[in-house]
Amino acid sequence: MKHPLIAGNWKMFKTIPETVNLINIIKAGVHKITDCDIVVCPAFTTLAAVSKEIEDTKIELGAQNMHYETEGAFTGEISPLMLKDVRCRYVILGHSERRQHFKETDELINKKVMAALKYNLVPILCVGETLEEREARHAFEVVKQQFDRCLKNLKAEEVARVVIAYEPVWAIGTGKTATPEQAEQMHSYIRRLLNEQFGEEVGEKVYILYGGSVKPDNIAQLMAKPNVDGALVGGASIKAESFIQIVSNASSKEAANAPNR
Ligand code: 13P
Repeated sequence: MKHPLIAGNWKMFKTIPETVNLINIIKAGVHKITDCDIVVCPAFTTLAAVSKEIEDTKIELGAQNMHYETEGAFTGEISPLMLKDVRCRYVILGHSERRQHFKETDELINKKVMAALKYNLVPILCVGETLEEREARHAFEVVKQQFDRCLKNLKAEEVARVVIAYEPVWAIGTGKTATPEQAEQMHSYIRRLLNEQFGEEVGEKVYILYGGSVKPDNIAQLMAKPNVDGALVGGASIKAESFIQIVSNASSKEAANAPNR
């Protein structure tokens, strides 16, 4: 059985001293929790500092974005090689804020996913519909299109190494969480796509995280759903106490919900 995976996306928050303070409180708060995989994704400028602080822990490091080339004349960009250099294991790709504000397309995200895998980084591929798309009843179609395009030309064994995060855009930073039923509906749909296109072994293996206004008081209900393997947490991950609480509440999934899948 998989351990839950809780990843914190710290977005464009925190200076180096603030980050060091945050990670140290988190470190102390989660050190006894062994049945939950924890990833923190701080800003680029603080990756090296966090990397040093978590050296002797089981907390893993992730970045929030990267370029797909190894090196080159791409002013302002960061490469997969550079992320490996600071000991990142994960990288968030295709977050809706990147799609919306920086015009990232599925084709670009596909290149990034392939580059991440080439460097042995675990891509946390974000998919999710806008409110308009949900209201027009296009949510499943939109997610399928993102799924197909972002995973294009990948072999089954490569897809097995990808983490998928379902983040409905209308739930991000709005305080409006998808209900556990809405999350489960989309997660089981994504699981079905994985099973059909890449085989059941891959479908079973891939983590599908939920993201969008995850808080200490809603994580347990979300995790209770059979296809929710963890969460990608924004706002509540940059407050040490709430992140620790989320990790702790998520890690009781195994006890609470053993006979799933
Ligand atoms: P919030 O948890 O702040 O809604 O953000 C979710 C998110 O974007 C995680 O990547």
